Amino acid sequence: MMNNAAVDISRLRVRRGRIRVFDDLYVAIPRGRITGLLGPSGCGKTTLMRSIVGVQKIDAGEITVLGEPGGSRRLRRRVAYGTQGAAVYGDLSVRQNLAYFAALLGAPRGDVDRVIDEVGLRGQAGQLVDSLSGGQSIRVSLGVALIGSPELIVLDEPTVGLDPVLRADLWRLFRALADRGVTLIVSSHVMDEAQRCDRLLLMREGRIIADTTPRSLLEETGAADAEAAFLALIDRDVAVSIPTRRAARDTRAHREEVDG
Ligand SMILES: Nc1ncnc2c1ncn2[C@@H]1O[C@H](COP(=O)(O)OP(=O)(O)OP(=O)(O)O)[C@@H](O)[C@H]1O
Ligand SMILES: [Mg+2]
Repeated sequence: MMNNAAVDISRLRVRRGRIRVFDDLYVAIPRGRITGLLGPSGCGKTTLMRSIVGVQKIDAGEITVLGEPGGSRRLRRRVAYGTQGAAVYGDLSVRQNLAYFAALLGAPRGDVDRVIDEVGLRGQAGQLVDSLSGGQSIRVSLGVALIGSPELIVLDEPTVGLDPVLRADLWRLFRALADRGVTLIVSSHVMDEAQRCDRLLLMREGRIIADTTPRSLLEETGAADAEAAFLALIDRDVAVSIPTRRAARDTRAHREEVDG
């Protein structure tokens, strides 16, 4: 257990459809830092984020977010979630979208202009979201997450489809938010983004295979970059877990028989 963690998860078990995504997951995420959630497609990044923000049905476990039970009403304004893929209205302008979400959250109206500047959409403020480029509409959904000055911002692959200049801009914004004490959890497929995080959670098949920092990741693996380091960790993980994985699968099959 981490003292004063932004997120503290224990014994989490989640099933999606017929798949058991998490079996007995423990995670602690520090406040005021950028934590990167990295791992191959299907490893459970989105499911973990959904669990943290309280939109995922869980089978077991405890999730504490900013000192409150995950998903509780009191967290509604304190936690923001930027989903994978834009969740904004295409037939509204950038400004109308942000104003709508500001009204929903009871956020100050001044937030709309602040956020438009933060995500660099001043020139497109009056444009319909449907007419924006891919990167611009991603920035609108990011803007929605920034409305209301949340203490915890959970962003699912916010930089996918953005060019390197925009990606660098956004990471500067994330850093500025963290400097103000905001906690960010950001998932990514892009390993060079790992270097920009304070902490890294590397996931694989529903497990955290490393809870580390960018520097220790390279030191511990002796790899030249984050991508090579991650592959080295996966190799190591495969080597240690093949026998135990078989045991886990047998137990799981047995449990499913028992559960029906
Ligand atoms: N609605 C669903 N119904 C059934 N299974 C699901 C559902 N959503 C996700 N899953 C499964 O849960 C597992 C974890 O998925 P999740 O979306 O959390 O992965 P991810 O790490 O976010 O992947 P990606 O990098 O592709 O976004 C995967 O095996 C996926 O197929
Ligand atoms: Mg995902």
